[in-house]
Formats: sequence, C-alpha cells, structure tokens
Amino acid sequence: MSTLLRIDSVVKTFPGLTALDKVSLSVDSGEILAVIGHNGSGKSTLVKILAGVYLKDAGQVTLSSSAEHGEEVTEMHFIHQDLALIPELTALENLYLAKGTLAPNDVAAERARARELIGRFGNVFNVDIPVKRLSPGQRAIVAIARALDGWEHPRNVIVLDEPTESLHKSEVDALFQAVRQLAADGAGVIFISHRLDEVLELADRVAVLRDGVKVADEPTASLDHGRLVELITGSSETERAVAERTVSAGAPMLAVTGLRGGGIEHLDLTLRAGEIVGIAGVLGSGREALPTLLFGATPSLADAFELVGRPYDHRFPEESIRRGMAYVPADRVRLGSVREFTARENMTLPELRSLRTRTGSINAAQEREEASRLIDEFQVRPPRREQRFGAFSGGNQQKIMFAKWLRNKPSVLLLEEPTQGVDIGAKAAIYEAVEAAAAAGAAVLVCSSDAKELLRLCQRVIVLRDGVQAEELSGESLTEHHLVLSGYGLKDMEGTA
Ligand SMILES: Nc1ncnc2c1ncn2[C@@H]1O[C@H](COP(=O)(O)OP(=O)(O)OP(=O)(O)O)[C@@H](O)[C@H]1O
Ligand SMILES: [Mg+2]
Repeated sequence: MSTLLRIDSVVKTFPGLTALDKVSLSVDSGEILAVIGHNGSGKSTLVKILAGVYLKDAGQVTLSSSAEHGEEVTEMHFIHQDLALIPELTALENLYLAKGTLAPNDVAAERARARELIGRFGNVFNVDIPVKRLSPGQRAIVAIARALDGWEHPRNVIVLDEPTESLHKSEVDALFQAVRQLAADGAGVIFISHRLDEVLELADRVAVLRDGVKVADEPTASLDHGRLVELITGSSETERAVAERTVSAGAPMLAVTGLRGGGIEHLDLTLRAGEIVGIAGVLGSGREALPTLLFGATPSLADAFELVGRPYDHRFPEESIRRGMAYVPADRVRLGSVREFTARENMTLPELRSLRTRTGSINAAQEREEASRLIDEFQVRPPRREQRFGAFSGGNQQKIMFAKWLRNKPSVLLLEEPTQGVDIGAKAAIYEAVEAAAAAGAAVLVCSSDAKELLRLCQRVIVLRDGVQAEELSGESLTEHHLVLSGYGLKDMEGTA
C-alpha cells in the first residue's frame, strides 16, 4: 500500500479566524477517506488548499511520484462544493476545458465521451447548452463527469466536496459505484459529506475536523452513526422526536390544477395552511422544475391557479413575493443570494418596505437589529452580520437564505433542498423553523432528494415521475423504503431493499 497524498501540519488563517490548525492527513492508493465536520469546520478550505485556490500559511502537501510506477506523478481531480463550472460554457466545453483545451481535435469523440460519462448517472441530457441552464442536479453530474474524465493513469487522487447534496438515491448509487471502481483501480479518494449514512457506507477511514482541528482519524469499522455525531459535535447525540404527523390543515393557500410547463407535464396540487408537503423524484422527474413554476420564475400554464384564495394568472416572482410566497432555491449562490452583499443586506433584500423611514431611506438601526436577531435565531457562524455572503461556509450561507425568507412570515413557503450542506445541529434548527412557519399558518412545499428529510418533515409526499404525479404517500405508506423505490419507478419489493 503506497501513500498518494500526504498533508502535514497545514495551517490556514483568514482575518480573525484559524480555518485549519496544523491539520495532517494522508490517503493511500485504493483508500476512501471521508472528511467530516460541522459547518465551517474547515473541510472546503482544505480542499481549496489542495486545489491551489487558497495558499496555505504553513505546512506541506506532498503528492507521490514513484519510479515503481514509471515516472507517474499523481494528479488531483476535484468536485468542488460550489462545483466550479463555468456557467456560460456548455457541459461539453466545461469537460474539455478541464483537459486544457477549448478547441479539441475531435469534438464528436469528446461529445460521445461526455454522453457516456453522464449516462452512467441516468438519463443523458443535452451537453451542448450552457451549464447555467441545467438544473443543480444536472450540474453536479457535469462536475462529477469532469472529475472522472481525463485520467492518464489510475493512481490519482479524487476529492469530492459534498457531491451528493442535490442527487437522488439512484444517482448517489451510481456515483458510489464509480468511486469504488476508481479506488479498486488504485486511486485515493477524499469524500466530504454531512450524510453520515453515506460516509459509513462508502469510506474506509473517517477523519473529523472540529473548528479547524483534526479531532479523530479512525477506520470506519470502529465507528457508527452515534459515535460520528459525538465526534462532530463533541457531545453525544440528543435524539429528537419525529414530528407529529397529523396536523389540522387549514384553508388552501395554493391550489393549482392542470399545471404544465418546463419539466411538468400535468399536475394538480393543493397546499393548505399548516401543511408540510413533500415532493420527491429523480433528476428530470419534474421535482427540480416545480418550485420555479409555482413561484413564477419560469413560465407555466394552468387550468386554474389560486394563491391565498385569489386567482393568480400572470405569475412572476415580484408579484409572488408581494402575495406572500417565499422560495428558497437549491442553487443558493446563483439564484438565492448576492455574493458581494453582506449577510445583513442579503437577509433584508426581499422586503425593504417595512424598513423604510418617512423620508424614504432605510432605517439602518432597525435593519441591523433585525439582521442580528436573525443571525442569532438561525445560528449563523461566525455571527458576523457585516461579513460578505461569499465568505461564509456553504452551510452557513444556507442558514442566511432561510433567515431571509422566513423573515417575512410567508403564506406559501417553497423549499428546495432546504438543508443541503447544513450540519446536524443547524439541520434541527432549520426543521424547527419550517415547523414553526407551518404552525403559524404557512403552507410548506419541500422538494428534496433526501428521503430521510421528507420523512422527518412531511405529512404527505408526492412522488413525481416524467413530469406527472406517480404516487402520493402518507400515513402507513410513507416509509423510506417506499419513497426510494417509488422514485426509481420500481414496484414494492418488500425484503429485497
Ligand atoms: N474567503 C474566506 N474569507 C474569510 N473566511 C473564510 C473564507 N473562506 C472560508 N472562510 C471561513 O473559514 C471557515 C471554514 O470554512 P469552510 O468553507 O472550510 O467550512 P466547511 O467545513 O467546508 O463548512 P460547510 O460544511 O458549511 O461547507 C469558516 O468559518 C468560514 O467562514
Ligand atoms: Mg464546505
């Protein structure tokens, strides 16, 4: 067994903060190492140092180059948390750009290769449209395909920073199969995820970061879910009771019949005050298309569309917000935030009228006070109201997005992958906030690729397939087993899962 990558006492500081404090790690050929830790613990910073995005302050990173395997120098391939694709370029161009060219000799061969790589994860989509027009899940697949492409020899290191956040179980399975194959061929793998079941399933060894310090590095065989939680948080797991499933649903807040447009063929949907309804389905099922159609960000047709008891025919986002709709998109960087604005500015942006003074300017003191309260309520770390959105870790960006939309007490709350990238502590806080919004009379729609999340939050879950409702699960039939099989389009096969 030979070591492909060695990280020795790496230190990285940002103004006023030590993101990595003398972290050492190594990855052997054939090994899958998981790196886990709470939001802001330093995982992506480590990845960015390996990729050369950030310069380290101290320490060493060594890649093997052994004569024993010719003069091969180990390369590193990355799937970054924010994917790092070029949105204006097509999927295909992003792929061959990674190999160092914008003008490949044989475009047809490159296209065939791209389609083959993408096809491993389900349906092939158009690789010739700009990446910015793909769904978050499709973009994740492009980034994965790019990392799997261009291997000159098998003994490389592949680094995956939360690659599964917008993927359905079937796509995750395909990814894991590809990763296992790479490891079997001699690659070293670094896998970052908050989904502890995935970590236990995939990794040979687990390293845990807490506030920039490595606090554990152990074989997976000696670990279980409870122990991982203990290592991440520094205390033992506090089990939370699952939400009471029977709620008394109130008046319809959103009622639509015959909805169709971009990815949805035909859908009837009623969301009542106090309800939390889930939407499940694989990539391309319509799951990813639905929220923007309802929000009016993409055009749709409907036989009838009512919002809070009134017909709503000319749908567009400003009007939706005005009528009490809120939308937390899966793509928080592109659709949900202004990177260069501070946390405060992002949080108050959707609704500034209530902050207006008599002279028409913004009441800055009131705005600061509201922002501080939200930062506190949603446990944003570091609690820096005036920090640029882009400088927060992925999970903390998600908390800011939530604060921003719940601030206005929406009547209809559309959520897409609401806890993507969020650690277990903050996840509980977000679930409580969603439940509180529902209890206060909001109708909530949760579109999620995470079956556990839907089970935890929803009273009923609608499974979409090919743009129509395939099934609705509630009560006894709402189990993880059913949900996963139904998403795949499989009949129940009790005992075989
Ligand atoms: N460019 C930056 N400027 C200032 N601080 C930064 C910058 N990038 C990261 N940080 C800070 O460094 C710490 C580590 O962030 P990092 O993104 O590595 O966390 P993470 O473990 O990947 O978290 P998550 O699970 O939320 O993705 C955080 O406190 C974050 O706010
Ligand atoms: Mg991260």
